[in-house]
Amino acid sequence: MKTIKTYQVTQSQGILLNANECGENLPLTVREEIAQAALDLAYNRYPDDECKELLNAYAKVMNLSTEQLIAGNGSDELLGLLISVLAANKSVLTLDPDFSMYDYYASVHQAELLKFQHDLHRPFDLDAFIQMGKKADLILFSNPNNPSGIALSAADLCQLVEAAAPIPVIIDEAYAEFNDESMIDKLAVYENLILTRTLSKAYGLAGLRVGFAISNPAMIQRLKAAKVPYNVNSFSQRAASIVLKHDEIFAPRTAQIIHEREKMLAACQSLKHFTVYPSKANFIYFRSKRKAVFMSLLDDIKIRDYSDDGFRITIGSPDQNERIISLLKQADKEIL
Ligand SMILES: Cc1ncc(COP(=O)(O)O)c(C=O)c1O
Repeated sequence: MKTIKTYQVTQSQGILLNANECGENLPLTVREEIAQAALDLAYNRYPDDECKELLNAYAKVMNLSTEQLIAGNGSDELLGLLISVLAANKSVLTLDPDFSMYDYYASVHQAELLKFQHDLHRPFDLDAFIQMGKKADLILFSNPNNPSGIALSAADLCQLVEAAAPIPVIIDEAYAEFNDESMIDKLAVYENLILTRTLSKAYGLAGLRVGFAISNPAMIQRLKAAKVPYNVNSFSQRAASIVLKHDEIFAPRTAQIIHEREKMLAACQSLKHFTVYPSKANFIYFRSKRKAVFMSLLDDIKIRDYSDDGFRITIGSPDQNERIISLLKQADKEIL
């Protein structure tokens, strides 16, 4: 049997800047409303398989129609579903680096994963990526990219989606709320475009596991026909619908994270021994030969460490970010 590439789940104590979650819990008033709603749930019944309330709530926030949406147990589930429907036993083109779960789902569904090397020190070679895409059955990548934080422009993405047609292109927009562009308004233009979104990041609902795939109604029908029944539980459907009703909470939170990210990026420009990449997400990616020195200073702060000289830090509270900057500066100054 083929070995499946596993994903490293890290749940830990301390200051968690490792999983690109939202640092703040929901306001107490919203949690109280969810708690009240939880009293009335029919726990003895299966959930609504069509997630009607949830899809209505998300469609309203995003100005979409419910026929363009399918909900999943996190966007992760939908990425797996998309690979199974569109590329099982076929080939998927992605980027290197990119989100490691693509490796996992490709290996589960026996899809060959082709990786286009994105040299982060050069402008993205769109033409070469388009050429490589012609050899694949599916194109899938995150934008903004996890882990680099780099975002391709909507103009480049349009060129890619158009050139790839009829090959489907999935753009994983898990961090789109922190970017200044999205491909949402291009869904009507490109039949082969599929987006995934999540409530785990900007909406701070990682604990509920709710995500969406967004595409044309025919593609959504194909996905609905292939999904497992009752994939989003009743509590998550109800709670996420309530949270989406309070959508106005999130714009200032997201603006604050973007502000902190820009402050941190500016403060990191003076580092001599750390390469910092321009992020459009809620994290910053670094590479450094001094990674081990920096890691040794972290104490109770958890960050995402990669096997090479790369590491990724989620934007936290202003105090946490200040602490990170001063530790980076300390590691930068250390005489080795
Ligand atoms: C690029 C990317 N896509 C998808 C996900 C998964 O999100 P979800 O919590 O919706 O499964 C993540 C989570 O870190 C991510 O970084």
